[in-house]
Amino acid sequence: MGRSNVDLELLVRLDQSSSVPLRGQLREQLRAAARDARLRPGVQLPSTRVLARRLGVSRGVVVDAYEQLVAEGYLVSRSGAGTSVTDLPAAASWTGDEQPAAARAPMCDLRPGAGALSQFPRDAWQAAERRVMRHVPDDRLNYGDPAGAPELRGALADYLGRVRGVSASDRQVVVVSGFAQGLGLIGRALYATGVRRLAVEDPSHVEARRQLAAGGLELVPVPVDDSGIVMDALRDTDADAVMLTPAHQFPTGVALTADRRAELLAWADRSGTILVEDDYDAEYRYDRQPVGALQGLRPDLVIYGGSVSKTLAPALRLGWLVLPAPLVDAVIELKRLDDLGSPTLPQLALAEFLRQGDFDRHLRRTRRIYRCRRDALLLALGEHLPEVRPLGIAAGLHLSVLLPVGTDELAVATLAARRSVAVGSMGEHRLTPGCPALLLGYARHAEDTLEYAVRELATAMS
Ligand SMILES: Cc1ncc(COP(=O)(O)O)c(C=O)c1O
Repeated sequence: MGRSNVDLELLVRLDQSSSVPLRGQLREQLRAAARDARLRPGVQLPSTRVLARRLGVSRGVVVDAYEQLVAEGYLVSRSGAGTSVTDLPAAASWTGDEQPAAARAPMCDLRPGAGALSQFPRDAWQAAERRVMRHVPDDRLNYGDPAGAPELRGALADYLGRVRGVSASDRQVVVVSGFAQGLGLIGRALYATGVRRLAVEDPSHVEARRQLAAGGLELVPVPVDDSGIVMDALRDTDADAVMLTPAHQFPTGVALTADRRAELLAWADRSGTILVEDDYDAEYRYDRQPVGALQGLRPDLVIYGGSVSKTLAPALRLGWLVLPAPLVDAVIELKRLDDLGSPTLPQLALAEFLRQGDFDRHLRRTRRIYRCRRDALLLALGEHLPEVRPLGIAAGLHLSVLLPVGTDELAVATLAARRSVAVGSMGEHRLTPGCPALLLGYARHAEDTLEYAVRELATAMS
């Protein structure tokens, strides 16, 4: 690990008698020092143990501050190299239109995406990988089954049944490199069976639509209201298949109501329409009993998909499909043609992680964290932006806020970016124009950061 040559005691003054908790004070002072370059880009920070000793606080206070500032992009932490101050222009993750101004400024990035990567269960994952490496026989290092490692297919059938009410035999589970690859396979497999028109929610994930359409399907937009996909509009489309996000509609966040689910399934049954269910973040549900997967109600009509991108990390590129029996072989053959199967060792690590209960523990822990963050965001919105209407707050890692009619959502997002707060815009995901709205992801930021971001957003809107 590189040695630190910065004297943080000169930059940080903790007040033990203050009503602000020590971890909040440390975060804020480190953030301020990084923001105004008293802590220069690239500077190596002391280890958490050393800094805790020097400041006379518990190590947890320092770990918490470092983790949060890594999540906010002020610090970077590399295994074996310790923690250092981010070199912002190179590391800023802004990909929007305001690059020059935004790339220079530290970002509070509320655009929907991954969960809190600082919460990745590094130790448990490493332990699972070590166990796999110790026991895996040599012949498993050869090409694997293109459908996925049997251990993982079994562990997933079990997990999805238990947590999402999915009904699947191991054989119906196909492991894919993220649900993005799964969508491409589904698009091509459906096309091969004669499907031509695929109804998609409007709005819906722009990338998901691209993956599906790559195989030649024609996409037909269907509006979404507060209860999910609008059935009358869907019936009018003449679609052969429908792609939807019933548990937490992306991006609005609404859940498909029980009545709509029943209506949708009855219609799909009558018309012989296949449903594609994207269950991208359903593990995170805060206020009500989990809403089970549609697939569990009609496994013969629903193609189900999910991944670890929201729960663990997109970098793992591990996802799954659960297929109606008649589609299984065709999808496995397409997967084989694509890449001869996903890498075996990470699959075995995930199977081990699931089997040992590590995934359940990780979900319980992150659910608590994300719920507090969501509550803090809602509180801040109520206080500083009472004119917006939050939607889709019960689940997931983001919510949407409807802006007053006539607001230019892109202008608001641009002004917020100038104040170092990046927000998602609903328009990016729309196929047809609709109410102005922003998307706010809360999972990656601590409560005080969310409060700060909402205040900046309120200033931008005013
Ligand atoms: C709504 C939605 N569906 C699907 C995906 C695909 O994720 P992955 O390919 O990482 O599994 C994402 C990723 O952000 C998403 O937001």
